[in-house]
Amino acid sequence: MPSALQFTLAARCSTTKARAAVLTLPHGPVETPLFMPVATQAALKGLTPEQLESVGCRLCLNNTYHLGLKPGQAVLDKVGGAHKLQSWPHNILTDSGGFQMVSLLQLATVTESGVEFLSPHDGTPMLLTPEHSIDLQHSIGSDIIMQLDDVIATTSPDEKRMREAMYRSIRWLDRCVEEHMKPDPLAKTPGASFAERQNLFCIIQGGLDLEMRKECCEEMVKRDTPGIAIGGLSGGEEKDKYCKVVNTCTSLLPPNKPRYVMGVGYPEDLVISVALGADMFDCVWGTRTARFGNAITSAGILNLRQSSYASDFTPIDPSCTCPVCSPCGSPPSQPLNPTISPASYESNPTGYTAKGMGVTKAYIHHLAAKETAGAHLLTVHNVAYLLRLMRDARRAVVEDRYPRFVRRCFDGWYNGDV
Ligand code: GUN
Ligand code: ZN
Repeated sequence: MPSALQFTLAARCSTTKARAAVLTLPHGPVETPLFMPVATQAALKGLTPEQLESVGCRLCLNNTYHLGLKPGQAVLDKVGGAHKLQSWPHNILTDSGGFQMVSLLQLATVTESGVEFLSPHDGTPMLLTPEHSIDLQHSIGSDIIMQLDDVIATTSPDEKRMREAMYRSIRWLDRCVEEHMKPDPLAKTPGASFAERQNLFCIIQGGLDLEMRKECCEEMVKRDTPGIAIGGLSGGEEKDKYCKVVNTCTSLLPPNKPRYVMGVGYPEDLVISVALGADMFDCVWGTRTARFGNAITSAGILNLRQSSYASDFTPIDPSCTCPVCSPCGSPPSQPLNPTISPASYESNPTGYTAKGMGVTKAYIHHLAAKETAGAHLLTVHNVAYLLRLMRDARRAVVEDRYPRFVRRCFDGWYNGDV
């Protein structure tokens, strides 16, 4: 099918499946491996789009289900999509909505038509079909749109239901593709389809059963979408099972397309999944945990609400270069400029564009209980940390020292050896 992206491999690790690439989307290039922060309601909780941009984010997530309910499709059409709604000049990826309904609303039920649920506003019955999800994502105008899929928790013992969900996800992909290939009334070239300005990704399902995953990969790859996601993970499954699923899938996926592991994750999961050949990730954990006072650092997770931080006047992470941790008034670095040349990292190691704030652990501790600013500052740091972790991973791939990079990360997180 047509695509509105370019995926150019820049380097491969010689000992693992890790790769580095440039993914060029309608709103500009991004470098992979890549972490994508989640702005469910067209905003990262507590952050302005400018703050998100200042830490180097060039691709964030929105959710179709949330935006479809509010502001709703009519407002999205009127304003001209989610980029305009939130004044975000960079890329957006939208999840299709079904997963959120099933995980948020116990009352959602899945049938062959779609996902049925009761409106959280007034309790009226609603149905999200594959066609409707794609139509909403066309109104949102996101650079990457996701198919509607049938997601079952990996921990579910019901193999029959898992198989049904896997086959249904393939059938729903076909319905999504058909909707996406319709002529786009706003296209500059008459008759051009939506596929020429938005990229539809399929989602591999099949739980922890490797045979089911293989079958799903084969079927999904045939549909030739511009990118491929691995779904149904991040549900608390054991790590070795998680790794086997990711490894099995990446072995069967074409090397020239981006691979997105949905809902992942923790810093450990990100660096391991990169070694297994995954390129893109998203997770709410980093931003959510900031609201509980947790800082992600190179020496592990620190809970800054603990009294031991009351008079700790060091930065949240002394090795962090983010605007929150950098010395007060320190100048911003050059804007992020994706390029495959390793030399570019020397002149532009961070991509941050905001001046340093010189925030200390003691200040976050002081704010934690009473002021939302504490959560906002920690959110900026945590997002910056995860974005930088993937930039550092990329650099390690380009310089072919990825295994050493992984060991160094784990030494820091688990032994405080930074
Ligand atoms: N987010 C995390 N996992 C999934 C998944 O399997 N499907 C969708 N649509 N979204 C997800
Ligand atoms: Zn920081």
